[in-house]
Formats: sequence, structure tokens, C-alpha cells
Amino acid sequence: MYDQLAEIHQRPGVFSTYTADLLWTRPHLANRMLHLHLSQDTALASRPYTAIGRTVDWIDNRFGLDGRSVCDLGCGPGVYANRFAERGAIVKGIDFSSHSIEYAKKHGPAEGEPVTYRVANYLTAPLPEQQDLITLIYCDLCPLSPAQRRTLLSKVRRALAPGGKFILDVFSDTAFADVSEAVSYGKNYMDGFWSADDYFAFHLVFRYEPDAVSLDRFTVIEENETSTIYNWLQYFSPDRIRAELEQAGFRTIEITDGFGEDRADPSTFGIIASL
Ligand SMILES: C[S@@+](CC[C@H](N)C(=O)[O-])C[C@H]1O[C@@H](n2cnc3c(N)ncnc32)[C@H](O)[C@@H]1O
Repeated sequence: MYDQLAEIHQRPGVFSTYTADLLWTRPHLANRMLHLHLSQDTALASRPYTAIGRTVDWIDNRFGLDGRSVCDLGCGPGVYANRFAERGAIVKGIDFSSHSIEYAKKHGPAEGEPVTYRVANYLTAPLPEQQDLITLIYCDLCPLSPAQRRTLLSKVRRALAPGGKFILDVFSDTAFADVSEAVSYGKNYMDGFWSADDYFAFHLVFRYEPDAVSLDRFTVIEENETSTIYNWLQYFSPDRIRAELEQAGFRTIEITDGFGEDRADPSTFGIIASL
């Protein structure tokens, strides 16, 4: 028991284990994440529809969606991709949650408005070529290690058409300042979120100071199985994201407060990058 508790409390090396796929694709979790994603009461997995609508308007006004080829990375249940298609874009949505993709297809725009969904891991699957716009919205670069970010940025660069734009947002240093280390524990912790069966869960929050990284690690102990889920987040200053994008070959990098959202919240900022 002592050894197990010691292991549960041990601080892992930064970005040592990637388990994002478990969180989004394990059947029980995928279902709970989809509910969170669509909930208008929490912004844990996506922004509320009002903010999404403003972002789509902003992108449309700025780049003109009609007739553009758009690839939405981590499209989830299609809350952006379907709206892009309704504005006349030719959209490809990629996500590794088949559960979310099923929802996206079911709630897609009417026939004739071209949107194609693919269940795939964007770190390993080929991306569509010659895209006018590639979106990675709601800070989806942040759970990735530096090596994974380099892989993804290089794939995005190669998938853009000449003049194409990469539109993304990231968590800011201001959000990192709000992270405190903590330990919580409970039976069926988070209201049964982690399993349909009874379990005991430990939730530890770690801060990695010079790296501006946080980790929420959940150890979920069921009768016959123990799972550990690592939720890493990299926080960025404008200089840091600019440097990573420049290293990946992007030449024009514009930092924005956001994409037409209510900017009372300084925890994220937006970026538009092109070659
Ligand atoms: C925080 S949600 C944001 C979804 C959407 N962009 C939005 O704002 O509503 C992250 C999404 O990215 C997907 N995802 C995360 N990592 C992925 C990967 N490596 N390959 C494909 N999809 C991924 C998840 O399944 C999830 O749907």
C-alpha cells in the first residue's frame, strides 16, 4: 500500500507519457467527453455555441469561407466544421474519437454542403493537401510534447496551399500563473466520470516551473484494473509560440487576442500563421 501510494504521488518527467487518446477514445470516457463537449454549461472541452458562432463569423469575415478548402484538426463533434461547411467551405474534419465523428456526421449540414469526416490521429495520419485554412481550435497544441508539436507543425506546413493560413489558439502564461499543485481523492471521483463501475481515484496537479507546463494526473483504481491518465498542458507566451512556429518554417505570424470572442478571459490567445 505504501509503495503504491508513493508511486501515485511521484512527479513524472515532463511530457513523459502520452495518454490523450485514452481520454478521448475509451468508450465510457469518449461518451462523457462528448457530453462535456456539447454542454453549454461548461467550457471544459469546447467553447459555448455563442463564442463558436463569433469565431466562425470572424474567420469568415477575415478569410472568406465560401469555396475555401478547410481542414479542422481535432474537429470533435463538428461544432466548427459543420458551421464552416454551412458558409460554403469544403471541409475536412479529423479527430481520433469515432464517437464524436459519428455525432458530427449525424448533425452535419444538409446534403450538397461538402464536409468529410475522418477518424484518425493527426499526429500520424496524412493530412489533406493544398488547404487554404487549417484550424486547431481550443488549445489543442498544448497537450502535445515539444517533439509532437514539431511533428504536427511540420505536417500542417506541408498541407497548406500557397497563401494558406494556420489558425490556432493556445493557453497563455496568465493561465499558468493560476495553476496550483494539489491532491484530491474520492470514491467514484468526479461523479462517475472515469468508469461505469465503482472506482477510487487520485487526482494530482503538478506544475513544472521553468517549462510552463502543468499535469493533471488521474489514477483510477477499479476492482480489476488501474489506469493512469496524464493531461499535460504547455502554456505559451507570444514569444514562445512565435519561436516554435518560426522553427517549423512559418514566416508570417500574427498574434491576436482571440477570434471575435469575448476577450475578458486572458487565459488563451490566438495565432494566424502562414508560410
Ligand atoms: C479540446 S477538444 C476541442 C475540439 C474542437 N476543436 C472544439 O473546439 O470544439 C480536442 C479534440 O481533439 C481531438 N484530438 C486530440 N488529440 C488528437 C489527435 N492526436 N488526433 C486526432 N484528434 C485528436 C479530441 O478527440 C477532441 O475531439
